[in-house]
Parts: sequence; structure tokens; C-alpha cells
Amino acid sequence: MSVHREPQLLDHEYDGIREYDNPTPGWWHALFIGSVFFSAVYAAFWHSSPMSWSIHDSLMDEEQAYYGLLFRDLGELKPDEATMLRMMQDDKWMSFGASVFRANCAQCHKADGTGETGPNLTDDRWINVKSLGDVYRVVTDGVAAKGMPVWKNRLGQNERILVASYVANLRSNPKPGRTPEGEVIPPWPKASSASSP
Ligand code: HEC
Repeated sequence: MSVHREPQLLDHEYDGIREYDNPTPGWWHALFIGSVFFSAVYAAFWHSSPMSWSIHDSLMDEEQAYYGLLFRDLGELKPDEATMLRMMQDDKWMSFGASVFRANCAQCHKADGTGETGPNLTDDRWINVKSLGDVYRVVTDGVAAKGMPVWKNRLGQNERILVASYVANLRSNPKPGRTPEGEVIPPWPKASSASSP
């Protein structure tokens, strides 16, 4: 590109003002052409290459790794009442259940479970639930006709068991909220009377 040269006074004159021919320096050109080239490669890679990744992908990978780590000690939980009763006693897993609830359920059932578009989950009246295991079944299969989503494809089995156990625990602390719906059901079985898995 341009070799350094002394600025030259040009011939033409505007209203008594004459100008120098001041070429943009070579390094500036190089930077400009370099950035044009870089932007083409950048756009091709991040917008069209199957080899690129998004922030969302990285988040999913990290979440996957995190759950792997988190669930390593837990193993694959069995979707039965004994397991739920055991988890309901476990503060660590109940705070995990609470975070699943806040992220996925609070928008309809409210953060404290007292209900908004979905029913109050803290009282003794239930529409689709007669037993503890029904809580897991409703979460898994949803109640499509009434607006309760199906969660089996969106949450793993452990997550569903833990969030269902968390929901079951809400009942120990009934709060006023949405008008009670459904039938009064018997208390959940006691943890000790359940056979261990
Ligand atoms: C889009 C709104 C919505 C979301 C999100 C939602 N629910 Fe629901 N849920 C409902 C509605 C509506 C019902 C009532 C269904 C009926 O009337 O039969 C319901 C019912 C339930 C029931 C049964 C209550 C009963 O009395 O039978 C449980 C348990 C429940 N939801 C748990 C959850 C959990 C756990 C999550 C999150 C993983 C969740 N819901 C997310 C709307 C929602």
C-alpha cells in the first residue's frame, strides 16, 4: 500500500482555501480491509456454520453437566410414593424442587403455590389428585383440557419427582389464595409407614 510521502499541496482552490492531499495511512487501510474480511468470516461462522454455537447451547451444556453432577448421587429415582416421601424430608432436594417450581410452575400457580390461573396447591382440596402418586402423574401427563401442561418431555423424571414432592409439601402449610376447588382428600401417608425403595 502507500509508501510514506510528504503531503502535497493540491492545485485547486476553494474560496482561497487550498488543500493538502493527505492519503489515509497504510496501517489504516490494512485495518479497514482486515475488519471487512474479519466480519465476513465472523458472519459466515456465527450465522451459518453448523460448527458455531449459541449462548443458549452453552447454557444447555452447562445445565446438563450441572444436573449430571447434581443427580450423580441421587441416581434414577423411582416414581413411587415411598421415594416421594423420602424426598419430601430432604431439604437439599426440596430446595431443588422449589427452583424447578419457581422456573416452570409459578407463572400459573404463583410462587407460593396459592394459585392464579392454576389451582391453589397448598390446601386440602384437589381436583385431579386423590393420592400422593397422583401429584407426580398430573405433573407428568398434565391435564391438557384444563390448561395444565404436560411436563414429561420438558422435565426429566428426577425433576418431575422432585417438583411433585415439593408441591406435596406445600400442603403442610395451607394458605389462602385462589378459591378452593375439588374434593378434600385424606392426608398423605406418613414417611415411616411407606415401604422403603
Ligand atoms: C400454563 C399454566 C400452568 C403451568 C405452567 C403449570 N400448571 Fe399446574 N395446573 C394448571 C391448571 C389450569 C390446573 C388445573 C387443572 C384442572 O382444573 O383439572 C393445574 C393443576 C395442577 C395440579 C393438580 C391440582 C389439582 O387440584 O388437581 C398440580 C399438582 C399441578 N398443576 C402442578 C404443577 C407443577 C408442578 C407445575 C410446574 C412443573 C405446573 N403445575 C405448571 C396450570 C398450570
